Amino acid sequence: MQEAITIECPFPAGFLWGAATSAYQIEGAVGADGRGESIWDRFVREPGRIDNGDTGDVACDHYHRWREDLQLMQRLGLRSYRFSVAWPRVMPTGKEPVNKAGLDFYDRLVDGLLAAGIVPLVTLYHWDLPAALQDRGGWTHRDTAYRFRDYAAAVFQRLGDRVERWLTVNEPYVAAILGHAFGVHAPGLKDPEAALRAAHHLLLAHGLAVEAFDDLGLRSPGRPGGPARIGLAVDIHAFAPASDREADRQAAVRAQTLEARWFLEPVFLGRYPALGLEWYDQMGVRPPVRDGDLALVSRPIDHLGVNYYRRHVVADDPSRPLFGYRHQVPPGRPVTELEWEVYPEGLYEVLTWVRDEYLTRPVALLITENGAAYPDVVQAARGEAGGELVHDGEVRIRDPQRRDYIALHLYQVWRALQDGLPVEGYWVWSLMDNFEWARGYRTRFGIVYVDFDTQARIIKDSGRWYAQVCRENRLAFDPERIRL
Ligand code: FCB
Repeated sequence: MQEAITIECPFPAGFLWGAATSAYQIEGAVGADGRGESIWDRFVREPGRIDNGDTGDVACDHYHRWREDLQLMQRLGLRSYRFSVAWPRVMPTGKEPVNKAGLDFYDRLVDGLLAAGIVPLVTLYHWDLPAALQDRGGWTHRDTAYRFRDYAAAVFQRLGDRVERWLTVNEPYVAAILGHAFGVHAPGLKDPEAALRAAHHLLLAHGLAVEAFDDLGLRSPGRPGGPARIGLAVDIHAFAPASDREADRQAAVRAQTLEARWFLEPVFLGRYPALGLEWYDQMGVRPPVRDGDLALVSRPIDHLGVNYYRRHVVADDPSRPLFGYRHQVPPGRPVTELEWEVYPEGLYEVLTWVRDEYLTRPVALLITENGAAYPDVVQAARGEAGGELVHDGEVRIRDPQRRDYIALHLYQVWRALQDGLPVEGYWVWSLMDNFEWARGYRTRFGIVYVDFDTQARIIKDSGRWYAQVCRENRLAFDPERIRL
């Protein structure tokens, strides 16, 4: 019999082991305490938009159950928790005045986290734009970026004394392009020009929020507790051409340019990538850049959030709208439930690529999302062979694929650390099963299972395993036993 070989990967002291969520996906309580309507509240009501007609009306009812969820985080041994603030709770119509009750919720949550020794990582925009702003054009309207600045300033003023780590915008590519060009996310438009306007205004909003952060002195050495840190979270896939054909090679470069560089280059280098501008030019659209915009967008950030899930193998396909390519999975490659290719090396590739292309000054890297959807099955724990009775009592969720997915990606984070990359933390997506946008509740990403009928939470096997990794500050796995 072959001996088990265990790969042992110790992580640096202080590494932030975390889990992530976002407001609309977990909070529910959409009418509570003066919260205004968001574009997602509307979008989910349009027939055919969301699988099974699901909505975020109740979600995980986290708004009411946050104390219980905080206990879960403690049981998991998390060192950090990434969540987002719902703009419509703080400014129900998207503008002043501030709804105090809305901010109170996040105030209590932050205090609870700090009392438990868990570092909050706060995202200001995870796609739930106030619907009243959409009525005036939403992200296609330049003024929305300025409204975001005011909203961000209100949250900074309330939480900035205690929260040290901030993200402005989550995945501007998805919010702009999936929401305004492909129409699969709110607000559901199919208009390339609107998408490009939204993309620019999201970046501008990011820059304006960083400026407000500085105006409030939150990065000054005089801030009690020292300078706080701010950045944004970008979804960055690994990209590869589907074949050696020149057309496919070019399509892969185009995909990386339009999906990733389009957002990273303005932030880090203060310009849009030439190849992307050319592509949009031949479609007759341009980003609505005004003087001074790119200087704002490229104000120095302290950390970059990297959301990494999969590789995009790109094939040229002129019949496809907008970008003229399609993504495919090479035969025989492992995939998750969503048919996303499992390609852990891609996380290492992406991190080194970001360093080589963009890190001209010290910027920390945070893996702000990584995780996988698999069909989870609740099983009785009693009376099985082995007869283990887990702490959640009656039931157990065996999700070895999710555990292996996370382990293999953490291994790549560890490799990046060995190369000296400044990775400060990892937030698994997600703390718990939640409303997975257009896929509704059937797609489960949590390391905690949620029974949406009863709101019971059950830590999955992957969560129990992750708790051990967090506690030991060390990843250990046997490559022979990976079953992906
Ligand atoms: C990311 C989103 C996050 C979640 C994961 C699966 O694109 O930021 O809210 O839906 O995908």
